[in-house]
Amino acid sequence: MTEHVKTLDQGVNRQMVELLQGAWRARAVHVAAELGIPDLLAEGDRTVADLAERTGTHAPTLGRLLRVLSTFGVFLRLPDGETYAQTPLSAVLMAEPGSPESTDARFMAANWHWAAWGDLLHTVRTGESSFEKANGISFWELTKSDPDAKRRFNAAMSTVSEAESAGIARAYDFPDAGHVVDVAGGLGSLLAAILTEHRTVRGTVLERPEIVPLAEELLAKAGVDGRYETVAGDFFEEIPAGADLYTIKRALHDWDDDTIVRILARIRTSMRPGVPLLIMESMVDGNSDQEALFRGLLLTVLVGGQDRPESDYRRLAERAGLRVRRSIPVGGDLRILETVRA
Ligand SMILES: C[S@@+](CC[C@H](N)C(=O)[O-])C[C@H]1O[C@@H](n2cnc3c(N)ncnc32)[C@H](O)[C@@H]1O
Repeated sequence: MTEHVKTLDQGVNRQMVELLQGAWRARAVHVAAELGIPDLLAEGDRTVADLAERTGTHAPTLGRLLRVLSTFGVFLRLPDGETYAQTPLSAVLMAEPGSPESTDARFMAANWHWAAWGDLLHTVRTGESSFEKANGISFWELTKSDPDAKRRFNAAMSTVSEAESAGIARAYDFPDAGHVVDVAGGLGSLLAAILTEHRTVRGTVLERPEIVPLAEELLAKAGVDGRYETVAGDFFEEIPAGADLYTIKRALHDWDDDTIVRILARIRTSMRPGVPLLIMESMVDGNSDQEALFRGLLLTVLVGGQDRPESDYRRLAERAGLRVRRSIPVGGDLRILETVRA
C-alpha cells in the first residue's frame, strides 16, 4: 500500500513538472519557428554550426535548444550529435505553405503575445485583457500601428478563416442574387467564398482602414469578377445600409456583453425588416475540449473577449432588438445564428 502511494506520488510529481515546464516547451518551439529552423532543414540535414551561422545565433546555445526540442520529436538529432534533420512535427512549423500551426507559431512567438500570457494573473483577477498592462498598448492599437504585429495577426486570422469559409458558404442557403455585407470581414476570405459559391451575389467587406487593402488584395485574386467593394470604417459608427444579407464572423467574441449589444444594434439600424443578419461564432458548451477552452482564455488575455454558449448570443441578439430565426451548425463548435429585426 505504502509502495503504491509512493509510485502514484512520483507519477503525480512528474506530471506536475511537465505541466510547469510546458511554458518552456512552448517557448522553445516558438524560437525555433521564429528562427526559421524548420525552413532551413526542409532543404536537407544541417549541422548546428551551419544553422547558427545562417540564423545569426550563438551556436552552443542553439545546439542545446535543438537537443531539448529533439527529445519531444521536434527535429531529429543524428548519431554524430551535431547534425539535425526535419521530422513530421517540425515540418508543420514551416512558414510555407502557411499551415495554421506555422502561422500560430509566429503569432505566439511575438514577445507581446508572450508578455500578455505572462500577465494572466491580472486577467484572472480582473476579467480584463492583460495585453495593455503588459505591453503599454492595446492589441488593436498594436496591430494597427506595428507592421510586424499586423502581419503576424493577419496571417493567423487568414489561415483560420480560409479553412472555414468554404464550409460556411455551403452550410447556409445564401440567396442566388443580392448584396451581402460582411461586417468586420477581416481579409475577405468569407466574402470571397460566398461570391465563389454563388456567382450572381455581390458583396461588401466593412473593415478597419488598415485591413482594407489586404481584403482588396485577396478579393482581387479570388476570381469573383469585381462583384465586391470594400469599405474602410468602424462598426460602432456606420454600417452600409440596404443590403439583402449581413454577416459578422468571429468579431463579436472580441468584446464584452454591452459592446456586443452596441455593435449588433448598430448593424440592426442598417437592416431592412426581414433582412437576415448571420452571427457566426464558436458557440461553446460545457463539453468544449481543451483547445477550445484555451482559445477562449486567449481571447480574454489579448482583447478582453470570450467565447460564449449559444444561449448568451441569443440573449445578446434579443437585447439588440433582433429575433433568432434559426441556429445552423457549420462544423466543430462554429454555428450560424440567423437573426432578423424583432
Ligand atoms: C477575429 S477578427 C475576425 C475577422 C473575420 N470576420 C474572420 O472571421 O476572419 C475580428 C475583426 O474585427 C475587426 N474590427 C475590430 N474592430 C473593428 C471596428 N471598430 N470596426 C470594424 N472592424 C473591426 C478587426 O480588424 C478584425 O479583422
